[in-house]
Order: sequence, then structure tokens, then C-alpha cells
Amino acid sequence: MPDAVTTRSVLVRYFKARIPFISFRTSERARALDVLKSVASEINVPVYVHTLSKGLVDIVTGRSVSEDRSLMGALDFASEQMKSRQNMSFVLTDVSDIEDDTAVSRQMVDVALLASERSGSIVVITTKPIWPTLQRLGMSIELDTPTEDEMLGIVKATIEPYRGQIPVEWRDPELRQAASILAGISQIEAENVLATLLAKGSIATTDMEELVKAKDRIFSDISGIERVPVRDLSVGGLAGLQAWLERERPLMTADLRERNLRPPRGVLLVGVPGCGKSLSAKAIAASWKLPLFRLDLANIYGQYLGQSESRLKDALATADHVAPCVLWIDEIEKGLAGAGGSDSGTSTRLVGHFLFWLQEAQSRVFVVATANDVSQLPPELLRRGRFDEIFFVDLPYEDERREIISLYVRRNLKAPISEALLGQLVQQSDGFAGSDLEAGVREVAKDAFLKGDDVVNDELFLRSFRNIVPLTKTNPERIEAIRAWGRDRAVPASGRLASAEPADGTKPRRVVLT
Ligand SMILES: Nc1ncnc2c1ncn2[C@@H]1O[C@H](COP(=O)(O)OP(=O)(O)O)[C@@H](O)[C@H]1O
Ligand SMILES: [Mg+2]
Repeated sequence: MPDAVTTRSVLVRYFKARIPFISFRTSERARALDVLKSVASEINVPVYVHTLSKGLVDIVTGRSVSEDRSLMGALDFASEQMKSRQNMSFVLTDVSDIEDDTAVSRQMVDVALLASERSGSIVVITTKPIWPTLQRLGMSIELDTPTEDEMLGIVKATIEPYRGQIPVEWRDPELRQAASILAGISQIEAENVLATLLAKGSIATTDMEELVKAKDRIFSDISGIERVPVRDLSVGGLAGLQAWLERERPLMTADLRERNLRPPRGVLLVGVPGCGKSLSAKAIAASWKLPLFRLDLANIYGQYLGQSESRLKDALATADHVAPCVLWIDEIEKGLAGAGGSDSGTSTRLVGHFLFWLQEAQSRVFVVATANDVSQLPPELLRRGRFDEIFFVDLPYEDERREIISLYVRRNLKAPISEALLGQLVQQSDGFAGSDLEAGVREVAKDAFLKGDDVVNDELFLRSFRNIVPLTKTNPERIEAIRAWGRDRAVPASGRLASAEPADGTKPRRVVLT
């Protein structure tokens, strides 16, 4: 996305070309107005700005030109003026209801058509989509949040006036560090964060942590990606995945430039439902001590052409800004289903953009995508070089079941269970998913809570496990299809060859799909 200098030069061209309608796409109204003001003075055309609070004012002098403060009032005024004078420009900052065919958008179309006859222009500052009939009359322009250099200017302008009045420990290196932490948020947000620091009466070097937190909070409010709090989580089994993660971990923070390596991009976890894919995504963030953001593709889909892609772009750009972080895309197949099919234009483009980002982005965003229904996955996603690795999360093996049962016994019950009982439960739970094992222990724990700990005995455990009906029983074909796929195409997350169990002796191998 363009910085202020680029945006300004494009705007000058648009104004000189008398583009009748310009949508200025940014959440930074104040900076956008600064840019417009400087453009207006340079090319010397009258530009009026409308806000609901002040009505219409001359952008350069600030002088009010109309009594009526409403948007409709401003549009009427604009029409009147343009009928009698050429080269008039109007900037609207508080428009709503122009996403589709409404009274406002129709009136805007009329005014824009008039502008095109009278060499004027209408500029709308907004982040919302615009009714295509209106947008087609003009051009659009973007303004990104401040670059690191621009942010340094903002930090200095906010902090320096206080030097001498309150203790300010920040020198050049700290000012720069603050600018780099704040990069990615808007000018107003940055000023608010800094003002909050100033309000406590001193600026210390230790305030950097506070800045990081404040920025996190800002990003957690952005739609598209959502901050997920993580606590320390334990995953039972999946030793192969754990070992791989342990090996990659230092690469997330090291400086890899001199070796021309890129930071790890991420993993795709596919496999049987309830076996710890989503849990692993959370556990990775917890163990790497990185913030976890969840990208919900269902929220990305928009109604208008191009809207979904721009939302996805925004979400991924946001992830880039908050890096280092873990970006979790749960059940990715649901969001991307249909790519390559008939009604698939949007999802195909989304997949395309996602893969492009996955391959090209240089930021330290570690993607953990999970999928249950692999038949729905677009094949491009599985090609080599996209994810660093594709792991298959199978039903837990004997020793993994042992680990998971022990884990939940430790967590939910007061006393450990005997080795003999553990052995029996492990045997009895062949075909159980991790979630089934957890449910088996949970039932016992519930009884212990409701009826007292002395009701806990071996029989209660065995009964509770007998009552569990795993998915492998209720839907064996589905589970077998997932397993067959996973054994063939992905690396076993358990860390052992999948041939340990299947009778047909198939060996797992990584197939390079083209
Ligand atoms: N390997 C495991 N270790 C510990 N708990 C597990 C494991 N697998 C599943 N569970 C339990 O089952 C729940 C559901 O697992 P989840 O990770 O959501 O499954 P999915 O693979 O479908 O994403 C988890 O929240 C956890 O409580
Ligand atoms: Mg899941």
C-alpha cells in the first residue's frame, strides 16, 4: 500500500486529469485531509471539505461556506456551485449508505456526473465498499498507515514538546524503536497510545513493553483477524510434530538475512477430527510465546466483487504488521471450499492471494492451518514450497493414548490411577480420538465432583470409557478416507511410520502434487 508521498502524487494527477469521482480508501481521515490540503494548495483549485460536525469548509482557510451541515445539504450545495463554476472539488468524509443502490448513492452519481461536465470532482474518504455504478465513474486511491519513517516523525512530534516538562528517558534509539513498534497502526492510534504514556507523567525506556501491549490491543479489534488468548496447553503424543516445531523454533527469531534463509512459513495439519489439530495450533503459540491470531475465512467473504480479496489482503497485512505471531486458520477447507469448481471465482482468487502471500511475505508470521475434510482442499495448497510441512494427525497410538489419558487424569482428578487400570483403558480405547479420551476422563471427574472423590474407582473409569462411542464407530468410512489420504500424502505427526498399524502394509510417502 502506498505511503503519503506516493498517494499525494497520484492525487495531483487525478485532480489535474479532472477525475469526477475519487474514492479515497483509508481509515486515516486526518492524514488523508492533510494530503488533500497540500494538493489543493499546490494546484490551486477550490476544495471544500464536508464533515458532519463542521459542515462544509474551505480546506485551505477553514472558512465555513454553508449553514446546512447535513450530507444532503452538502451535496445540494455542491450541485448549485458546480452549475455556476468550473473546477470545484468537494471532499466528503462522513458518507454512509453508499454500499449499494440507495438514495444517497444515486444522488452521489448525479453530482459526480455533474462534476464530470463541469470539470469538478467529488472525493469520498471511506473504508467501505462503494456501489459499483458510482465507483465506475471514477478512480480510487489508497493511503496506508504511516511508514516507519513517517511514524518516527509522529513519535518525535508527540514526545519532544514534553522534554523538560516531565522526565523523558527516550533518546534517538528509543524513539526509533517506538516508531518501529507502532508501525502498522494509524496516526491517531499512535498518538493516542503515546498520549496515554505521557499521561502517566514520565517516559521511561521500560515503557516499550507497554507500547507492544497497546498495539496488540489495537490489532485485536480489527476484523478479519482476531486475537486469541492462549494459556499454557499440553498436547499428548504427536511427538513428530513436536520435534519438528522444536527444531524450527529458533528460526522464528534469528536474523536469517545473511544466509538468505526465510523464516518458517507454517504447517498444515490434516487428519481425524478431535485428535489435537486445533489444540496444537494454540499450543504452538503458547510454547513459542508468540501472540496467536485467528483468521476466520467465513468472515472474509463479502457480498461485493473484490470485497473478499481486499478483506483477506487487509487481514494478512495486519498479520504482517503484528509479526512475530502465529496465524491460525482453523478448518481452512471450509473457507476455501469450491476453489476450482463452478461458483468458484472468489475462492479461487482468495486461494491465489493467500498462496502468493504465503510464498512471498518476508514477515515472521507462522501459519498453522488445520483441515478435517481433505477432499475439499484445493490441490494448489498442497504443493511443495507452500507450507513448510504437511502433517497428518492420526488417531492416537497406544502410547499416545496412554499419554493423553494420564494428562487428563492429572488435570481433572485428585489422585493418579494405577498402572494396571491405565493399561486396561489404553486397550479399551482403541479407535478413540483425543477428544474421546478426554471425555472419558471428564465423565469420571464430573462424578467425583458431584458425588465426592471416593466414588472414583476402576469400574467407574471402565464404564465411562465403555460409554464413549467414537467417530470411528459412527462414521468409519469417513475416518478411513481421511486416514488413507493422510498416510499417503503427509508426514505422520506422531513421528512414526503409519504402516505400524494398517494391515495392507502401505508406507507413508510424500507425494509431490503438481
Ligand atoms: N493429542 C491430544 N492431547 C491432548 N488433548 C487432546 C488431544 N487431541 C484432542 N484432545 C482434546 O480434544 C479436544 C479437541 O481437539 P481438537 O484439537 O479441537 O481437535 P481437531 O483435531 O478436530 O482440531 C481438545 O481441546 C483436547 O481437549
Ligand atoms: Mg479443530
